[in-house]
Amino acid sequence: MAFGYTGSMSKQERLLSLLSDGRFHSGAALGEALGIGRSAVWKQMRRIEARGLEIHAVRGKGYRLATPIELLDREVVRAGLAPSRAARLRGFEIFQEIDSTNRYLADLAAQGAAAPYLCLAETQTAGRGRRGRRWLSPFGRNLYLSLLWRFEHGADDLSGLSLAAGAAVAAALDAAGVPDIGLKWPNDLFYRDAKLGGLLIELSGEASGPWCAVVGVGLNVDMRGADLSGLDQPWTDLRAALGRPPSRNRLAAGVVDALLEAMPRFERAGFAPFRETFERFDIVCGREVDLHFGNGRVEHGRVRGVGEHGALLFESESGLRQVTSAEISLRIA
Ligand code: BTN
Repeated sequence: MAFGYTGSMSKQERLLSLLSDGRFHSGAALGEALGIGRSAVWKQMRRIEARGLEIHAVRGKGYRLATPIELLDREVVRAGLAPSRAARLRGFEIFQEIDSTNRYLADLAAQGAAAPYLCLAETQTAGRGRRGRRWLSPFGRNLYLSLLWRFEHGADDLSGLSLAAGAAVAAALDAAGVPDIGLKWPNDLFYRDAKLGGLLIELSGEASGPWCAVVGVGLNVDMRGADLSGLDQPWTDLRAALGRPPSRNRLAAGVVDALLEAMPRFERAGFAPFRETFERFDIVCGREVDLHFGNGRVEHGRVRGVGEHGALLFESESGLRQVTSAEISLRIA
């Protein structure tokens, strides 16, 4: 069973935690706390800057982060979970840096890891988005988390999982006081007309079951300072929605708790108990959209809602039909 930061804290991690308050710390004091010389402190500062965090260095005062940062803290996340759900976790790891939390859990699952297993990271060097896209993952400002869950049922029962998980996360954000949360089928999280986050669900297993799912959630909390080149659609963050950045640890707890509650409910009853919640946040029902299919074909039509298993009810010249593939990109026309 794995719980906590993997291995002991590196000098870089200790330095970041000292600087996280946004106050000045003298080079001497930092060096002493870390057991290194001033020039080594300076080198560590360059590494922090290379992670995209801005450092102010002022003669006579020392170093500080341009904006304070709330690092992920396992105990705070755990304390925000319902005790019965926290007790079910068979693994919980937080990484300062990883390629992808989804990739990590998918590999663990293949090696037979027990579930539920939770993984968070401060940054991802190869964050995965839907349809093979990259997920921008700047250090320490957003949320990147994945939950591994094992299901006993066969494949049919798993359609609708991505909508159910999206509905659970949307409801958690709503409960945390985020206004105007929206869901764009199948599970893009929106604030007004811009993307706030998304879910990537990766499944593996036998068609007849058992299956396992890695439910990955990426949420833009505070995108200040991030390199946004390459983003191809309007985006926003929770700082814009709330007027200030929320606590990442409390937010993570709210999202994880919602997923830990949703997964067994989905296992028992499928998408049905989530349909009403999904519809409450659905921003595409009734709207004209373009569906982009994997082969390059684009079809124009109107969304009429979602079916009982979570398929998109799509009306075009050729009539009303259900579209199920998550490999479709839906653009509001
Ligand atoms: C999307 O394209 O809208 C889905 C993005 C999902 C990103 C999250 S971040 C945590 C988890 N790990 C990944 O590599 N991807 C997901």
